[in-house]
Amino acid sequence: MKIMAFNGSPRKKWNTATLVEKALEGAASQGAKTELIHLYDLNFKGCISCFACKTKSGKSYGRCAVKDDLTPVFKRIEKADAIVLGSPIYFGTVSGEMKSFMERSLFPYTTYTNPYTSIFPKKIKAGFIYTMNVPEEMMQEMGYMQQFKLHQMTLQRIYGDSEYICSFDTYQFEDYSKVLSTRFDPVKKTKRREEIFPVDCQKAFDMGARLAGEK
Ligand SMILES: Cc1cc2nc3c(=O)[nH]c(=O)nc-3n(C[C@H](O)[C@H](O)[C@H](O)COP(=O)(O)O)c2cc1C
Repeated sequence: MKIMAFNGSPRKKWNTATLVEKALEGAASQGAKTELIHLYDLNFKGCISCFACKTKSGKSYGRCAVKDDLTPVFKRIEKADAIVLGSPIYFGTVSGEMKSFMERSLFPYTTYTNPYTSIFPKKIKAGFIYTMNVPEEMMQEMGYMQQFKLHQMTLQRIYGDSEYICSFDTYQFEDYSKVLSTRFDPVKKTKRREEIFPVDCQKAFDMGARLAGEK
């Protein structure tokens, strides 16, 4: 069992990265081999809409024809048994790097047929971890959930199985006193960091263990 995780935050030690690492710890607890990739370390762009992946009898049919740092990563995903995607919410959606990664890693395996089908070579499991500043109620009001569900459906269609977890009201800065952020109460943020974030870490661990569990 091999599980690969992708951190879609530029920060390698903060909320998203911590939860992604916890998911990998959960997977490792089930005996899985793990690999963590920080997307911001890689040189790549989003889909360039060349449609080589959909060109009948073309040499890149079903694969991304763009050659960059993601090329070897796609080969490794095809060998994995599960993947974890983690992203902070930026302006109501995943980070730019995560969005570009999703375009490049998912589009080649989606057929333009009716209905859509997947030509990903096998069934694997996918888990998504979203971290965000807003509390859960505001996330609902702002309609983020629609996107999470859409991602879940897309990942399910392509890979076979998918689930997601959210971490709300995250702690954002090293020192709130140095940053103009009157919108947030640092005392409440600290309390949440101490009391709720560990619960989120456990949820991430459990999800990793499930992803690495029996198919
Ligand atoms: C450019 C930018 C845009 C953001 N936009 C949102 C947003 O629209 N909604 C939200 O809830 N949080 C937003 N945030 C906050 C982050 O999603 C949140 O702090 C997240 O947990 C950061 O993840 P990290 O600690 O792993 O970097 C934004 C942060 C940045 C830097």
